[in-house]
Amino acid sequence: MNERSQSQIFRTSKLEQADGPGLNPTANRTMGDIIAARFSRRGFLKGSMATAAIAATVSPIALLAADEARAAMGSVFNFPEVEAGVDADHHVAEGYDADVLLRWGDKVFADAPDFDPTAQTEAAQERQFGYNNDFVGFIPLEGSADRGLLVVNHEYTNEHLMFPGIVTIAEGEIAVADATEDRVNIEMAAHGGTVIEIRRVDGKWQPVLDAPLNRRITVKTEMALSGPVAGHDRVKTNADPEGRKVFGTFNNCAGGVTPWGTYIMAEENIHGYFMGALPEGHREAANYERLGLPSGEYQWGRFHDRFDLGKEPNEANRFGWIVEVDVNDPTSIPKKRTAMGRFKHEGAESVVAADGRIVFYLGDDERFDYVYKFVTAGKFNEGDRAANMDLLDEGTLYVARFDEDGSMVWLPLVHGTGPLTEANGFASQADVMIETRRAADLLEATPMDRPEDIQPNPATGRAYVMLTNNTRREEANAANPRVKNAFGHIVEILEADGDFTATTGQWEILLQCGDPSVAEVGATFSTETTKNGWFGMPDNAAIDADGRLWVSTDGNSMEATGRTDGLWAVDTEGDARGTSRLFYRVPVGGEMCGPCPTEDMTTMFVAVQHPGDGGDDWEGHGRPSYYEDLSTRWPDFDDAMPVRPAVVAITKQGGGRIG
Ligand code: FEO
Ligand code: CA
Ligand code: CA
Repeated sequence: MNERSQSQIFRTSKLEQADGPGLNPTANRTMGDIIAARFSRRGFLKGSMATAAIAATVSPIALLAADEARAAMGSVFNFPEVEAGVDADHHVAEGYDADVLLRWGDKVFADAPDFDPTAQTEAAQERQFGYNNDFVGFIPLEGSADRGLLVVNHEYTNEHLMFPGIVTIAEGEIAVADATEDRVNIEMAAHGGTVIEIRRVDGKWQPVLDAPLNRRITVKTEMALSGPVAGHDRVKTNADPEGRKVFGTFNNCAGGVTPWGTYIMAEENIHGYFMGALPEGHREAANYERLGLPSGEYQWGRFHDRFDLGKEPNEANRFGWIVEVDVNDPTSIPKKRTAMGRFKHEGAESVVAADGRIVFYLGDDERFDYVYKFVTAGKFNEGDRAANMDLLDEGTLYVARFDEDGSMVWLPLVHGTGPLTEANGFASQADVMIETRRAADLLEATPMDRPEDIQPNPATGRAYVMLTNNTRREEANAANPRVKNAFGHIVEILEADGDFTATTGQWEILLQCGDPSVAEVGATFSTETTKNGWFGMPDNAAIDADGRLWVSTDGNSMEATGRTDGLWAVDTEGDARGTSRLFYRVPVGGEMCGPCPTEDMTTMFVAVQHPGDGGDDWEGHGRPSYYEDLSTRWPDFDDAMPVRPAVVAITKQGGGRIG
């Protein structure tokens, strides 16, 4: 049966971390006969010295020496580093405040019920902040730096941390009771996103519960399919014979805010929400297999037929898209922008190119899957918001091939070109978009080590690709130079002539992550990176208003790296390139999402996702963590409250710019 019991699910904190082989049938295909790893031309020099003297100690004197050394090298960051480690609380650099702004269950509307974890209902959750905040964006209102909309994705739910009385421990493992319909409906209401106005009063941010634009988006929210796939036979269902109307979005990982102020939600690990089996010989069999569909982690299909492929075979083609939300109207119908491809979308960060077209960088988070970008056909109209509202329906999606000599090519996914023809099963652009992965396979894109966020830097024409890890890689390729890549790396793309719309470019490896004091790891942090400053598993990233790179992580733990996930500041320029230091770290079991620096650089919003999900490997807990026996009760530390994912606002004490 595909209906795996819940007990099997929650041993991994995230769907994508389930230790599968990757789904790319072309995986392990090498590019030519590349065998030797290609190190960054600049990075190699630093990497060869990366077993840093400073890494040996974290005494205050050594940290001071590290600060001085980094300053001498021209680091663009200046803050006292946080000590890496694992405990029940979060920690921010000295001189900064980290204030909890919104927790799971907090009111999003003035009339929402108070959070009662022992009496959760679907109706209450629909009016409250959802679970597992991931992407965070800030959209200023009326040009104010003190007032804006916070937009937050609620990627997924951890039932064993959310609900009392459903866990038993068998042989040291968590077993979760089968779902009830009520529980499934609460889970569905805890997914999606939140739009909420926040204001800064006396230097501190607070939610405005009676604001007119506040909104919860859930698995019930009506959405429209737009672009080439809208109305296609492959997205028609019993409930929607026109193939244009979808209810909801889920597993929204990272995302973006467009230059015209809309909110982008990326649909990532959609496979876990479907169960059942396609009818024998169904045309979507290969398509779904390429996406790992269905994997049945959630039991929604037991109560909602559309999540059972045996009953509604096309429903899964209506997920895996980029969703655009017009936050200026809380009744607007979000649009699934099918011109941007269908895969496990991590995020969609964008930049206005020199000619006015908008370029979105898109990662497909799966072992051996690809890096994409989408270039709009139309141009950004700075003074006319309405003129931008359908820019995402027309444009060209490209997939990246990274070559051994440090060059790269963006290959267009356009029906009728190259192998993307009827002979290969693509009768139209709709088919190319529905099966983006298979189309990219045929174009011989470069299989990567789990592409997550990709962050363009508008000032430099570069983009930074977070590659989390890929322990299943047996054969290196140029841009993924380590086999069994446990700690991930960051690739820097330099578009030709700094033009983000370019179809060629150069690339280098900015960082190979992991502990630089262990030679076999092959990490390439600079020598000025301390024992606190290195990290593994880069996931989300931000470029701040000063063009500086911030990297948040997913997968650090006592066992993996002796530290929790956190937010690191990474130099990308000059002698300090490859220098990293720790700014903020999450409580045990958590993952660091966001980050979102405000334009005025006085606030860094971060999202603490799934805190308390883990802690078996930490001496402060040392056993499974679940509702009744949690490794942390952050942020309330109240015995009557479970651990709660939350968005945190980091500000400098006394005001001023961050970092
Ligand atoms: Fe939801 Fe790729 O992390
Ligand atoms: Ca992510
Ligand atoms: Ca992640």
